[in-house]
Amino acid sequence: MVSKKIVVGNMKMNLTAQEINQYLKEFEKKEISKNVIICPSTIYLPYFVGKKFQVGIQNVAAYEMGAYTGEVAAKQAKSIKVDYAIIGHSERRSYFHESDDIIREKITLALKEKLKVILCIGETEEERDSLKTYKVLKKQLKTALQGLDYKEVFNIVIAYEPVWAIGTGRVPSNLEIHDTIAFIKEIVEELTQHKLPVLYGGSVTDTNIKTLNKIENVDGYLVGGASTKVDKFMKIIEVVVPQ
Ligand code: 13P
Repeated sequence: MVSKKIVVGNMKMNLTAQEINQYLKEFEKKEISKNVIICPSTIYLPYFVGKKFQVGIQNVAAYEMGAYTGEVAAKQAKSIKVDYAIIGHSERRSYFHESDDIIREKITLALKEKLKVILCIGETEEERDSLKTYKVLKKQLKTALQGLDYKEVFNIVIAYEPVWAIGTGRVPSNLEIHDTIAFIKEIVEELTQHKLPVLYGGSVTDTNIKTLNKIENVDGYLVGGASTKVDKFMKIIEVVVPQ
């Protein structure tokens, strides 16, 4: 367990500029811990940096700066004081065909710029049904982490997000999450000789957070849909990182 848990809000491609302004107005009225990390759409990042909480970008390019139309480099994110980069989210893996090798490239570039990395891993429903969860997680971790300078791995947080639990309202049992997180921690330590924090993500809401927060080896939560609603997100924050 890390000393204090973290809560990450992945807003994905949601909210207009007007809605973001409204969100921030309401959100900033509250006491917010530094252990809260908000990851809005890239164009809204400048509205979020330099506040009471930390800020993450949802993706970075697999290239250094240069002629890559539409991409955003880790160095550029760092230059506006972004703290974290989510890398390897299952939506990037499936819709944008990101392989574990591309993910490793992105991690390397992010760490080089001193961005902290939230590395997402998780099995699909089919993989789960055919009892391949541990095999898939091990491969994702191995490919993403191999060859990294292990002195830098301290800046990586792992997020376990079963693909079938994302946006579906379906959540594994506390015991399943506990056992899978224990497995991930074991593999990560084996690969890097370091203990890294591991978060759970997938249909975390204000209604199930109290139950989920009882799992003793979870170091925090990665929240999608519920992070786009201030009241719901605040309830989650109050349970996980009370001020
Ligand atoms: P939901 O919380 O909407 O299921 O999304 C989880 C997620 O993908 C966070 O990265």
